[in-house]
Amino acid sequence: GKRIGLLTSGGDAPGMNGVVRAVVRMAIHCDCEAYGIYEGYEGLVQGGDMIRQLYWEDVRGWLLRGGTLIGSARCAAFRERAGRLAAARNLILNGIDALVVCGGDGSLTGADVFRAEWTGLLDELVATGTLTAEQVAPYATLNIVGLLGSIDNDFSGTDATIGCYSALTRICEAIDDVFDTATSHRRGFVVEVMGRYCGWLALMAAISTAADWLFIPEMPPRDGWEEDMCSIITKNRDRGKRRTIVIVAEGAQDRNLNHIASAKIKDILTDRLHLDTRVSVLGHIQRGGPPCAYDRWLSTLQGVKAVEALLALTPDTPSPVVTIRENTIGVSSLAETVKLTQETAASIDAKQFDRAMTLRDSE
Ligand code: F6P
Repeated sequence: GKRIGLLTSGGDAPGMNGVVRAVVRMAIHCDCEAYGIYEGYEGLVQGGDMIRQLYWEDVRGWLLRGGTLIGSARCAAFRERAGRLAAARNLILNGIDALVVCGGDGSLTGADVFRAEWTGLLDELVATGTLTAEQVAPYATLNIVGLLGSIDNDFSGTDATIGCYSALTRICEAIDDVFDTATSHRRGFVVEVMGRYCGWLALMAAISTAADWLFIPEMPPRDGWEEDMCSIITKNRDRGKRRTIVIVAEGAQDRNLNHIASAKIKDILTDRLHLDTRVSVLGHIQRGGPPCAYDRWLSTLQGVKAVEALLALTPDTPSPVVTIRENTIGVSSLAETVKLTQETAASIDAKQFDRAMTLRDSE
């Protein structure tokens, strides 16, 4: 059987531990061995005891744990060729001939670069005398499978990334709480949610909590949005609404690419509408905590699929990434999915945005 290395990379996401559990157990089930690579690519570059075999019992109880128990990092060293060279050496020294990477856009791009360079890296390891030709011979190809783990849901070609529904659930719970105190005091609240480049969390939260207004990076508001926002809020207030909630993605911007900061929105509500307004930045609370049922299900089925896909790979098949579309788990080409994601505003559906903006109380 194969020796499968497994790492989680980039921002952690609820469900990553479910992936590790599923990959470890499915690997063992298929007569393979599973190796946890700790601290993301950092562990791959460093080697040593950062790479440890994981057994069936090691991952007991992991399905319901938040974060990632094998650690994650945004690793600068792996972006350099020297780092990837060290990583290749460590894989071979550990006898690892296949890799499962669970992470976001940057992490999976890194994995794809690594695979494309693989032959060159082996040549260099031999040429520099780091390893012998006999040592590298059994590792002519490196099979990599990607899994999309990110709270942002910022990937094209899949309906949901692992973690996004857990984060959305936490955001909705937090906004429900804000709703109570806002109503009590008849206050305005600007709630800032995560998403530097992707407004999926903000959009879904706005629909799910019936917010008054929404800002996301992908759809900058038209010029004069300050008046638009104020007039809707005034209308809602005139109809007896006691609270105002504006949701802003951390990376929201206007048409001139100027950041629309929460503080600026607060000032507009305070100065123009004389609303007693507070800002709540939800921050990393959105990223932590136990995975919701959907993410436990998704991480389990996708982890199983990742091992199946690895074992089915031939040297000419491009590296796959595990997806879910219309409730069906499948695989797509990792490189193509990464490219598509970089070219399009991932998962924002213009119709949903319009609905979020028109189904408010004022209509
Ligand atoms: O990609 C996940 C994410 O939580 C984004 O929504 C956010 O912009 C970023 O990570 C925050 O990164 P950091 O972990 O560096 O605080």
